[in-house]
Amino acid sequence: MAKAKDTTFFCKECGSESVKWAGQCPVCKTWNSLVEAPAAQNIKGISGRINSRPAFGIAGPAALFSDARSVTMNEIAAGSEERIITGISEFDRVLGGGIIRGSLVLVGGDPGIGKSTLLTQVCKCLSDRSVDLLYISGEESLSQIKIRAQRIGSFTDHMKLLCETNMETIESVIINDKPSVCIIDSIQTMYRSDVESAPGSLGQVRECTNKLMQWAKGLNISIFVVGHVTKEGVVAGPRMLEHMVDTVLYFEGDAKGSYRILRGVKNRFGSTNEIGVFEMRSDGLKEVANPSEFMLLGRPMNVPGSIVSCSIEGTRPILIEIQALVAKTGLNVPRRSCTGIDFNRMNMLTAVLEKRIGLRMSECDAYVNVVGGMKINETALDLAVVIAMASALMDFPVASDLMAIGEVGLSGEVRNINQTESRIREAIKLGFSSIIIPASALNSLNNIKEARLFGVSNVAEAIELLRADQGLSSH
Ligand code: TYD
Ligand code: MG
Repeated sequence: MAKAKDTTFFCKECGSESVKWAGQCPVCKTWNSLVEAPAAQNIKGISGRINSRPAFGIAGPAALFSDARSVTMNEIAAGSEERIITGISEFDRVLGGGIIRGSLVLVGGDPGIGKSTLLTQVCKCLSDRSVDLLYISGEESLSQIKIRAQRIGSFTDHMKLLCETNMETIESVIINDKPSVCIIDSIQTMYRSDVESAPGSLGQVRECTNKLMQWAKGLNISIFVVGHVTKEGVVAGPRMLEHMVDTVLYFEGDAKGSYRILRGVKNRFGSTNEIGVFEMRSDGLKEVANPSEFMLLGRPMNVPGSIVSCSIEGTRPILIEIQALVAKTGLNVPRRSCTGIDFNRMNMLTAVLEKRIGLRMSECDAYVNVVGGMKINETALDLAVVIAMASALMDFPVASDLMAIGEVGLSGEVRNINQTESRIREAIKLGFSSIIIPASALNSLNNIKEARLFGVSNVAEAIELLRADQGLSSH
């Protein structure tokens, strides 16, 4: 096959390279994940590998790429990492306390969610702090950027703009301007003329990112790269983009709603799974200092199928409302649908209700929704999901000042979870007075006097408790 000579193949899942095509990736064993990419040898000039020396000779931080000599741990000067603080505390926290100099950060998210707005706002705050910036857009014209910027506020002359998609031109501007922070909006529009494929293709994205990595490390510039996500929710084109950068942030939320969450999913310089909460207003994004309050705004009071629970996002407990609708099905196979929680987990909890409580879930359609569009991947919500479904089916309301937390096991037992106390404290702060928790956690929480704690050891007990007292309502 003559073609095999100048092409190489790439695994979409793990990013590993392969010289010939195979049905299964030899590294991660995923089927049908190998796709064609231009071979590195194809690229004229330097190969563009991250570990190759930078194309330009810069002193200082470029030492990262210097002499082929190994060193001992003790020879390395400890040098504290230098961070640039933006002043947008939700943003700084997700990054682990500010922007690290020389880091490459990927900001992913659906189109229209507000990535450009967020980064323009970061630029505004940095330009106010006299940090030199370069905002490079391959998607919008200068006047379009100006229109957005006008909604956000005024900018000092520390911020420069460039509409360009050619990486070689960008390189010369960067070397000339020497910004401290650079924004690339978006990676899918950038291209290198020495790579023979279209912008947005796997090869271009990979080689452009390599180049950006060289600039970040070689010139000590912090670079933010915008990456669009596909329908499946991963950064378009290559999953490997995530492996190549230092930090991956996702900007998510319901595009029709107003709240947005900035989530750290990878961070070489700080903790991951940290979140920042913002509200999209007509004059840009505003930080939401108290997300729990924000998430619970406008919820219905004392109605069947609605209950509040608490999830730990990063280091913060956040209260969220869980809603369920359970209704007799007209289909042979009942419909199940959920947003915000894992579908398989929901099915498991439905089976627990059927088998352990005797609810006839198999005759009902069931819908579960985490209000606000948050995606929760925590078993601590199990108990609330079960109660919401039971309350919807049996038509008993749950008191609006009640919260439930706990993991549910296959025999219907309610199991202990982590950080119970901080979840309870968050609920108390927002005026919740009754909290259902796993019975096994009760003993260690004697110090909590501000709310009534109800320990339950299985799902049946929890539902019995709520029905006996019509939701333990204090109203
Ligand atoms: P944008 O940052 O262009 O999204 P992305 O770069 O992720 O594609 O944001 C687009 C949306 O945000 C658009 O629908 C308009 C809205 N928006 C506001 O509601 N308020 C504002 O102040 C700005 C600048 C945008
Ligand atoms: Mg944009």
